Amino acid sequence: MSTFPTAFGLTASQVRQVVRLAGMAPSLHNSQPWRFRITPHLIELHADPGRRLPAADPEDRELRLACGAALLNLRLALAHEGIHPLVTLLPHLGATTALAEIRSGGQGQPRPDEIRLHAAIPARHSHRQPFRDVPVSSADRHLLVRAAQEENTWLHVVPPGQLGVLEGLVHRANRVQVADARFRAELAAWVGRGEDSAEGVPLSAAGPKPDPADQWVHRDFTAGRTERAPGTKFESHPLLVLLCTRTSDPEAELQAGQALQRLWLTATAQGLAASMISQVLEVPETRREAMDLLGGHAAPQALLRIGHGTTAAAAPRRDPADVIIDGVAEQR
Ligand SMILES: Cc1cc2nc3c(=O)[nH]c(=O)nc-3n(C[C@H](O)[C@H](O)[C@H](O)COP(=O)(O)O)c2cc1C
Repeated sequence: MSTFPTAFGLTASQVRQVVRLAGMAPSLHNSQPWRFRITPHLIELHADPGRRLPAADPEDRELRLACGAALLNLRLALAHEGIHPLVTLLPHLGATTALAEIRSGGQGQPRPDEIRLHAAIPARHSHRQPFRDVPVSSADRHLLVRAAQEENTWLHVVPPGQLGVLEGLVHRANRVQVADARFRAELAAWVGRGEDSAEGVPLSAAGPKPDPADQWVHRDFTAGRTERAPGTKFESHPLLVLLCTRTSDPEAELQAGQALQRLWLTATAQGLAASMISQVLEVPETRREAMDLLGGHAAPQALLRIGHGTTAAAAPRRDPADVIIDGVAEQR
């Protein structure tokens, strides 16, 4: 059995655990589009071009969000192992896939917030079931807003006056996507892989089959394999938030991914649940209209529904050894 590569003086099993936790990040259709190169003094985060989703995400924006989320987990996991991570986004490593490099900025104890968020990593899941009809407290909202700010982004808590317009945009975007054969084929490839697959969205995590009368349309991960339980009704007032950056570029998207994960882990640590509703930001026309809702000055990167959940099943992940780039042969 080959040993796991090591970095920063950690043991192979510590680095394996760091990579395992990084890989617990969310990703579009659970595509897990990240890879890591581990060397004694440097960890590199790379996009995995073989895991692109060109129909839903032609510009790789969401791929970079997912890799940014994996980067936040990696930072927390290193801090937990006593390594203070120093991150450079979009380093010039001579590889077109390189998204970040992480060096050691010295050793020390993790901060209390790092300990709390690190513990939340395995507990965070996409919660596609109806929430309980309990509002998110203003103290929790405040924590979520602060989490986004800490990663140099901001959270637009969608006010009641904008909910109707946004809801209409989500329904419209969903109709555009389900009418597109390329989109349907791409999605179909990531659902229905069987419960023993290490990727894709399993039926156990799919949530109820969407109904046109639902206020917020969830993406249909059921692939016709299940019927909706009679009487299934979604919560009447979820908290809807748009995570925003100032600009639309790869660096901002990596920043947004880290913020998405800090926000979601903060919610998890507070006992809250969340799911993403991304159609509206994937279809160019509705994305533009969502930007108008923000006054045209911000780039919306992610729409989340947050509330008090019940239970959510975990989606599978690949083995850490399968996300390691070894040798220099793959360097472009
Ligand atoms: C950029 C991005 C977009 C996503 N969009 C959606 C979405 O529109 N609907 C949804 O139900 N889940 C969405 N997800 C969640 C993924 O499906 C989910 O993270 C993945 O299946 C892994 O499951 P987990 O979050 O429970 O770990 C998105 C995740 C990311 C990172």
